[in-house]
Amino acid sequence: MKIGVFDSGHGGVTVLREALLMLPQEDYIYFADTLHVPYGEKSKEELKEYIMDAVDFLRNKGIKALIVACNTATSVAIKELRQKYDFPIIGMEPAVKPAIQNGGGKRVMVFATPLTLKEEKFHHLITQVDKNNIVDYLALPELVTFAENLEFSEGAIIPYLREKLSIFDISQYSTVVLGCTHFPLFKDSFEKVFSQATKIIDGSHGTVKRLIDVLEENNIMGGGNGKIEYYSSGGSKEDAHKFSNCLIRATSI
Ligand code: SIN
Repeated sequence: MKIGVFDSGHGGVTVLREALLMLPQEDYIYFADTLHVPYGEKSKEELKEYIMDAVDFLRNKGIKALIVACNTATSVAIKELRQKYDFPIIGMEPAVKPAIQNGGGKRVMVFATPLTLKEEKFHHLITQVDKNNIVDYLALPELVTFAENLEFSEGAIIPYLREKLSIFDISQYSTVVLGCTHFPLFKDSFEKVFSQATKIIDGSHGTVKRLIDVLEENNIMGGGNGKIEYYSSGGSKEDAHKFSNCLIRATSI
């Protein structure tokens, strides 16, 4: 059976890419909720319905485990998903803990969607790990739209980031956490905006490591060869084109 990968749109390819690298002996089925992307500024109640529909779709296709490759969906629905379905479900978590460990006391900046940053899950994480009050955070919802429009040019992205960051002293940051799966698609622009000494990290490696543990614990590892099936709620050829473009980009940056 396959591993399901679900995202609001095509940012989840950054996690799929990591999974293909670390678990090439699995097959994958990716679902993008393109009818409802972006998720980051919608209400929790609305999103829960979309997320349950998406996961029902993947369950009906037959999956042995699910990666919720979307920080926003994880924040609002991971508990309910784990209660409802009987296959293992792995969510995303902004990599704040490794960022603090990397920083040697310097500041950490977390970027995510407005809803991820508003949710209890994020505030609980900050309370647990940010004992010295060194974490700042900022919502960058427009990056999701840029990605879904396949707009990756530095000429568009760098001025946007500089404008959003204009109130911060960016030289203070040892580490930047990309807390939305769309954001690693813009790693080149983040690298140009922050100093070379700033480390830019995301949660995909940790998520796939967790998936490996879960597959081993449940004795359901392997049986495939890196095949990918793709579906979207929009169901258009354009969606499939976006998926392959984003996957190629995730592989190349
Ligand atoms: C979005 O759809 O707004 C982004 C999803 C995410 O948080 O990864």
